[in-house]
Amino acid sequence: MSVADGQARHVAIIMDGNGRWAKRKHLPRAMGHRRGVEAVRELVRSLKDTSIECLTLYAFSSENWKRSDDEVDDLMNLMRKFIKSDLPEFIANDVKLHIIGDWQALAPDIVAMLEDALEQTSKGSRTLAVALNYGGQAEIVHAARRAAEQGEITEKTIDANLFTAGLPPLDLLIRTSGEVRLSNFLLWQAAYAEMLFVDTLWPDFTPEHLQLALEDFANRERRFGGR
Ligand code: FPP
Repeated sequence: MSVADGQARHVAIIMDGNGRWAKRKHLPRAMGHRRGVEAVRELVRSLKDTSIECLTLYAFSSENWKRSDDEVDDLMNLMRKFIKSDLPEFIANDVKLHIIGDWQALAPDIVAMLEDALEQTSKGSRTLAVALNYGGQAEIVHAARRAAEQGEITEKTIDANLFTAGLPPLDLLIRTSGEVRLSNFLLWQAAYAEMLFVDTLWPDFTPEHLQLALEDFANRERRFGGR
């Protein structure tokens, strides 16, 4: 059992609603993503005041390549800017970066920046795991293949070969913007996670919303299939 005292150690978020946020304000979609990054920044700053040991964020799915070239470029540029501007703060705040997904297939300069950020934050005590070019089904296939190469395919060996190996078990999965689906995110890890779907659009999601989500989680009774 991952939680003895009702405190969430690992929280994951599907950050949805940037486009709708921008549309409601008659702004370009890019502005929605920009404000989305600001919401990420505030949340990461607030981690030290929570029980969270690992926060996993769905930043770019393997399906997001289907968006327009302009939007993909925009998201990649935001990524570059975010790493550059926030890396010193991660280091100062003891945040350890972890990446899940097929991130080595991203543009070479982003891969290099990420490698550098991984190395520079490797001593951090709280983990920020960012899903980049991530797909949950592909992750399971990849883990099963590796498990087979190593010997036996079991739940344990698949688990040990997921991108999340070594992180605490997923306790709580949040999706913003009122959509109620997993969109290929952490499919294996979500097996016993609690789910929370909130109507707030991602750019409006604040550390206070996260606190409320943690309180909601603490009041849930988790049985893990037992009684
Ligand atoms: C969903 O909004 C959001 C995304 C596809 C990307 C999430 C990315 C960020 C918050 C910025 C990048 C993150 C980091 C860590 C630098 P949507 O565009 O699908 O919104 P919509 O459904 O309202 O159109």
